[in-house]
Amino acid sequence: MVKVFINGYGNIGRRLASALSADKEVQFVGVAKYTVDDKVKEALYHRYNVFVPKGMIPAFKDKGYDVTGSVEEAVRQSDFVIDAAKEGGGYDNKKSLYEPMGKPAIFQGGEDRHGEHAVADMIHNSRVNYSKAAGRTYVIQGSCNVSGMGRMMQPLIEKFGSRIKRYDVQLIRRWADLEDTKPVKDSIEWDRNPHHQDDVRDFIPAANLYVDAFKVPSRMMHLHQMFIRFDRAPAKDEILECFRNEFGVAIISSAKGTGDVRKKALELGFAHGDTNMVHIHQDILRVQDDTVKIGYSDDQTGMVIPENHMLLQSMAFKRSREEALKRSDSLFHMSKKRKVLEEEFK
Ligand SMILES: NC(=O)c1ccc[n+]([C@@H]2O[C@H](COP(=O)([O-])OP(=O)(O)OC[C@H]3O[C@@H](n4cnc5c(N)ncnc54)[C@H](OP(=O)(O)O)[C@@H]3O)[C@@H](O)[C@H]2O)c1
Repeated sequence: MVKVFINGYGNIGRRLASALSADKEVQFVGVAKYTVDDKVKEALYHRYNVFVPKGMIPAFKDKGYDVTGSVEEAVRQSDFVIDAAKEGGGYDNKKSLYEPMGKPAIFQGGEDRHGEHAVADMIHNSRVNYSKAAGRTYVIQGSCNVSGMGRMMQPLIEKFGSRIKRYDVQLIRRWADLEDTKPVKDSIEWDRNPHHQDDVRDFIPAANLYVDAFKVPSRMMHLHQMFIRFDRAPAKDEILECFRNEFGVAIISSAKGTGDVRKKALELGFAHGDTNMVHIHQDILRVQDDTVKIGYSDDQTGMVIPENHMLLQSMAFKRSREEALKRSDSLFHMSKKRKVLEEEFK
């Protein structure tokens, strides 16, 4: 049994906690909270042990929250940490806690891979470089978009190789997650320096990839429009064939937008309303001259949760990818979810 602590209880931490607390192979130590708010109540309701910064224990106790101890104690008693801090917070945690205590950790996609605040020298994508993470001490799990792009590009690379000349991706990103309280601003904003293309090149170094990212006033998933330029473009069926048996890829036809997919996931009772996958919208997949255009939606909050679970299996258990996929599938029911979504949106 590996003792795992989740440092953070936001959109990602909360989902990781649901999954790992149900995983029989893991001894789930608990979660960290840094703000005294209602989310503590939620974590306690789920019977998670809640750890807080040492100096804040009295503030949590004063509010009647029965916290277990300090974050430092939690890290000390764990074999492994999954850091789910808000963007950039993982670096300080690494320096102040994980490195001094010699604890291996997974970091999330908002952390730096390069520069003075780099937390690890590898970004994981379970479709591309799963086995390279085995036995490493620190690895970053790619962000939702980076995970989705890897999941789409790798099968195409394996089938078409050097016939592919270039990828251009336009990321249309949600303004806020469903659970976020921040307002959704009525504007379309662009990112002057998207990190995604460099992140993807970390695990697909030869990718001739160019990414533009736009944030839109929505809470409902991301949509990627991927343009793939070929020397001679394949037929639509040949493209779809690449994804028929891909883990975490659904091929759907009748959704009118990302909201339809998210609402269906909620209606079907998927945990947290997550599909945990990308959905190719085959009704807008077009082959035009030398270019294939694939529109797929990317479940921003759910995508990276099974990815973290896969990464944990590589780093902590050094398990084969096939075995890890089976275990992640049995925890997240992704094959079943895919089948249901393909049926609902056929
Ligand atoms: N949201 C997504 O769709 C998504 C998708 C893929 C990857 N990611 C990445 O996942 C990471 C977390 O994102 P999120 O959306 O979960 O953020 P979030 O909802 O803002 O949650 C951040 C959490 O960090 C906690 N925190 C504050 N100080 C901390 C510290 N020193 N150490 C650890 N945790 C601390 C906060 O606790 P309190 O609430 O108690 O203050 C909060 O629970 C980021 O790197 C992000 O880029 C996010």
